[in-house]
Formats: sequence, structure tokens, C-alpha cells
Amino acid sequence: FRMVDLIEKKRDGNELAEQEISFIINGYTDESIPDYQMSAFTMAVFFQGMTEKERADLTMAMVHSGDVIDLSEIAGIKVDKHSTGGVGDTTTLVLGPLVASLGVPVAKMSGRGLGHTGGTIDKLESVKGFHVEIDKEEFIDLVNKNKVAVIGQSGNLTPADKKLYALRDVTATVNSIPLIASSIMSKKIAAGADAICLDVKTGAGAFMKTLEDSRELASAMVSIGNNVGRKTIAVISDMSQPLGFAIGNALEVKEAIDTLQGNGPEDLTELCLTLGSHMVFLAEKADSIEEARKMLEGAIKNGKALETFKLFLRSQGGDAAVVDNPEWLPAAKYVIELSAKESGYISEITADSIGTAAMILGAGRATKESEIDLAVGLILRKKIGDRVEAGESLVTIYSNTENVEDVKNRLYKHIKISAAEVKAPALIYEVIT
Ligand code: URA
Ligand code: CA
Repeated sequence: FRMVDLIEKKRDGNELAEQEISFIINGYTDESIPDYQMSAFTMAVFFQGMTEKERADLTMAMVHSGDVIDLSEIAGIKVDKHSTGGVGDTTTLVLGPLVASLGVPVAKMSGRGLGHTGGTIDKLESVKGFHVEIDKEEFIDLVNKNKVAVIGQSGNLTPADKKLYALRDVTATVNSIPLIASSIMSKKIAAGADAICLDVKTGAGAFMKTLEDSRELASAMVSIGNNVGRKTIAVISDMSQPLGFAIGNALEVKEAIDTLQGNGPEDLTELCLTLGSHMVFLAEKADSIEEARKMLEGAIKNGKALETFKLFLRSQGGDAAVVDNPEWLPAAKYVIELSAKESGYISEITADSIGTAAMILGAGRATKESEIDLAVGLILRKKIGDRVEAGESLVTIYSNTENVEDVKNRLYKHIKISAAEVKAPALIYEVIT
């Protein structure tokens, strides 16, 4: 093939064959296809879209551009959960031990990355001694024994996606459904998932701001998964405000412990039960979603979920006693209340701006080199729709610096109070199978 012909073919709205897509992805990975031709190609895709068949072929070509993790030595159906990203999303910390307690193998590979708070690994490192520097054999043994383990990212996974994402970022082609969907799905499949449970966020704090766009992305990913032999479902959930109350690393570990004990925030608990039921069902550990949900509720009630969390922490060097003594988690020097200036109803808690406030406190990385402060962050005292009286706390700020004026101003600006009653937003919009 010649790249120029393939660009032309896509430019004119024709369907590319599997071998043509592989040629493009392999050529871009080994640098025989230059950035300028790939830029023209991604722009052609942006305008012409891709058929279902092309999307599946693109995903698998990216999967095979690098290492593919082989989890076949782990017994059972490996279900991976993926969230398209939100603020204060504590679901992974809860879901791992929760579904593992029912025998679903959770083999999680996680990176650090940038964001409002650290990633799953950073959060878990709030537990003294916990580490993810284990080798592949130990990882597999732990999943077989405990049903849950986390390992740091290693190997060369989906190099084509890494290059392509960076190129899209500077060529105004990030926002293309086929490119986003294949990018996300290729990473999950390369990481060894047999089945995939997607949490597609929608709202101000999400990548997709409208329900329509979120639905389109969710359907695109579900089709790809099912077309390449990985059962996939997607839940569309709200990210107009942060999920749960805690935004921070140690603070979210504490929130996960509360949730595993049955005392977590209502929205976080509900989302975990919804995603968890689909994971248990995909793993074929229950005959229906309803049965799976009952089993999960049982594991929280009878303490199995919490026991599994302790076992998981202990097995990777962590001091599991913090689960019963959360005051041993890293604690911030200053605890500052942000009190409401007026009475009324909470009408807005813009998720991404609240996340940025947590990052300014040091909870997340602004650049790859930034150091994370595990102790700092925010606890929301009110959610959208709640009544608030002037002087009541809206947010508790956990900080290691005394002066938090900048953070306070930001929070005041993005937490709006209205005189009229406000309805709480829906949490779960739909499930796409
Ligand atoms: N997240 C990804 O992983 N890939 C995209 O293309 C967009 C968001
Ligand atoms: Ca949270």
C-alpha cells in the first residue's frame, strides 16, 4: 500500500480493509509513516468517521502494536472496569475488593498519570507499606489466591495509541468518537481483559459533556468490544458534580473503607453496586444482574468485602490495620471549613473546578514531575439539591499549608447556591449492552 492512497480513500468516505488499517498502524508505530501523513489521516477520520468494522480493526491493530498481557494463568473470566474519568471517583478502590470477595478475578494494572488526584496506585500508597512493585508471577499468584491484586504499568502497551493520542492532541482530532473509542478499548484489551465494564461519565466534569455524546461514545465502545470477542457493557453515570464526598488520596481510601462497610456516600455506593453487578454477571458468577446485586449487598453486610480489602492490602505489604484505624492514614496539618455565605439550595458543584482546587492543595499532579501530597484534599459536606444555611460548612479543606485563600475563592466561585429548590441530578442515566 501507499499511505497517500489510504488517506485519499478515507478522505472520500470509503471503508478501509483490515490489512490497510494494519499497514497504517504498523507504519506509524515503526515510523515509516510520518506525522504529517498520519495527521491528514486522523483529520479524514474526524470528518468521515469509521464503520463498525473499521473501528474493530483499528482497535485490534493498536492492541498488536505492542505487548499484550497474557492473563491466561489466572482462573476465571477477567473483567476489567474502566471509567472515562471524573473527579473524586473512588469506585475502583471499592469495586476491586467488593467483586473479588465474590470470586471475580480482578487483575488490575494501573499507572500514575496526571489528574486532580493521584491514580489508584497513588491512593493505595496512603496505606503504609503498600507497594505495586511485584513481578508478573507474584501478581498472577496473588490474583489466583486472593482474587485481587494491583501491579504498576510495565512493558510496552499500545505504543501506537500513545503516539496517536499525542498527535491528535496537537492536530485538533482528539474529539472523534471512533478514535476515542478505539484508543480506550485497545488499552483494556492489551491489558488482558476478557470482558469489560465501562463507566462512561457525563456532565460538566466529564470528557463528554452531553448525554447524547456520552451515549454515542458508550455505544461505540460496546460495539468494538462485542465485535472483537470481549463482552462489553457501559453504564452512563453523572459527573456534573464529584462522586461521593472525598476528593484526595488518603481521604478517598477512607471513603472506600466506609463504603465497603456499608457506610459510604449514597451515590458512590449505588454506582459501585450497579457497576459491580454487571462485573459479577460478566464474570458468570451470577445468573442475573439482580442476583449479582444481592450478592454484592450481602458481601458488604457480612464483612467479606472488607476482609478482602484487608487481605489485598496485607498481601502487597500494606498495614491492613488502617482499615480499622483510618486515623492512621496520612493526615493534613490544617483542617479548614468553607462556610456558606448565604442560605438556600446547592445548585452547582462544578466537578472539574473542584478537582482543580484539590490539585492546587497538592492532591494531584499538574506535571509528570509533581509530587503528590497524600494527606490533602476536600470533603464535600453538601451535594446538589441539598439545603444549606448561611454559616454551615460546604466543604472541609484538608491542607498542609495554612493559607488556602486561592482554594477557598475557587470553591466559592464553583459552588452555587440558589434561593429556589433544586432537584438532585440523576446518578445513572442508562446501561448500554
Ligand atoms: N482517553 C483515551 O484514553 N483516549 C482518547 O482518545 C480519549 C480519552
Ligand atoms: Ca469520592
